[in-house]
Amino acid sequence: MSQELHDSEEQFRLIVEAAPNGMLLTDANGKIVMANASALRQFGYERDELLGQSVEVLIPGSARSDHRQHHAGFMQAPEARSMGARRELFGLRKDGSEFAVEIGLTPIQTAKGRGVVASIVDISERKHLEAQLRQAERLAELGTLASGMAHEIGTPMNVILGRAEYLLHRTADEGMKKGLTTIVTQVERITKVMNQLLAFARRRTPERRAADLGAIVEDSLEMFQERIAHSRIEVDKMFASPLPPVRADRDQLMQVLINLVMNSLHAMPEGGRLSLSLAREGNYARLDVADTGHGMPEEIRSKVFDPFFTTKEFGKGTGLGLTVVKGIIEEHGGTITLESVVEKGTTFTIRLPLDLTGTVGTSSSS
Ligand SMILES: Nc1ncnc2c1ncn2[C@@H]1O[C@H](COP(=O)(O)OP(=O)(O)OP(=O)(O)O)[C@@H](O)[C@H]1O
Ligand SMILES: [Mg+2]
Repeated sequence: MSQELHDSEEQFRLIVEAAPNGMLLTDANGKIVMANASALRQFGYERDELLGQSVEVLIPGSARSDHRQHHAGFMQAPEARSMGARRELFGLRKDGSEFAVEIGLTPIQTAKGRGVVASIVDISERKHLEAQLRQAERLAELGTLASGMAHEIGTPMNVILGRAEYLLHRTADEGMKKGLTTIVTQVERITKVMNQLLAFARRRTPERRAADLGAIVEDSLEMFQERIAHSRIEVDKMFASPLPPVRADRDQLMQVLINLVMNSLHAMPEGGRLSLSLAREGNYARLDVADTGHGMPEEIRSKVFDPFFTTKEFGKGTGLGLTVVKGIIEEHGGTITLESVVEKGTTFTIRLPLDLTGTVGTSSSS
């Protein structure tokens, strides 16, 4: 071989090796004769593990027989084309995981006969972004719909509620009272669903002031006083004091607490212990809301923040509670995590940045 030819071959090899796309060369029988660095990275193999193997090791089992047919057809009438025009294609990694790919095929004639060059692009990130975008669009539509609905439904609901309560106070008939009470609770349920939907859809810009997180927790608990008094639930409070304030929208944080406490109460129908603890962790306030309820297995735990995810029976839960909670906490520059053990209980942990510049009530913005 002339030096010149050798040099240009070497150069070509380096270009292929450095290409950002995965590149594979297979022979007429579908055996891999060359793989560049990107292809090895995409599929998680070392070079010597892959060379000489059938290209089928890179194809998920479900698509292999399809591939055999296409391969035979392609070798009979080879022309450059992209694979999977009408289907989604997946690559199979050495560890058994799959990833979405786009593949271009080019037939080539080598000294050893016909072969195929496959150029492989990992499109899993793009797919992921597309899915997120679709989700965001759906939520935006939901926002518009919810605002319209709140107006159309909220007004008559208030009228119904007002009339039912008025009649409830005027009648002494027990049967009548029972019926009216049902109307009131059902209307309250509708109102609750609407409010959740709205809170979620509106996401108004929060009005932040220096706020005492401990006081917010106390005030939120207050709303459950009745309920807790009539249940077998013990409440434990452990507040580190004094804690610097957080910069927060008080109403929003109350909504967070109400949602978390409500979920905990739902998880302990037979009673149990609800523990709320507040402590300082560096420049963050850390709030734990823990219950000794039924807990959650991993399949549920991973979905609780998804919009509309609920395990409650139809009409009982909107599945927006924790979606709202997470949105609010993240808007405040904080984080929320959870730990849960089936039959033992669940702990939600919130971290919110402390406002280390002012003190409660004397901050210039309040
Ligand atoms: N403390 C908890 N213990 C056990 N499971 C929980 C707890 N908190 C949430 N979950 C699970 O997460 C799901 C989603 O909670 P989320 O608050 O978002 O909606 P929801 O409570 O079902 O409905 P809504 O809040 O509108 O009443 C619940 O249905 C439940 O399965
Ligand atoms: Mg809830």
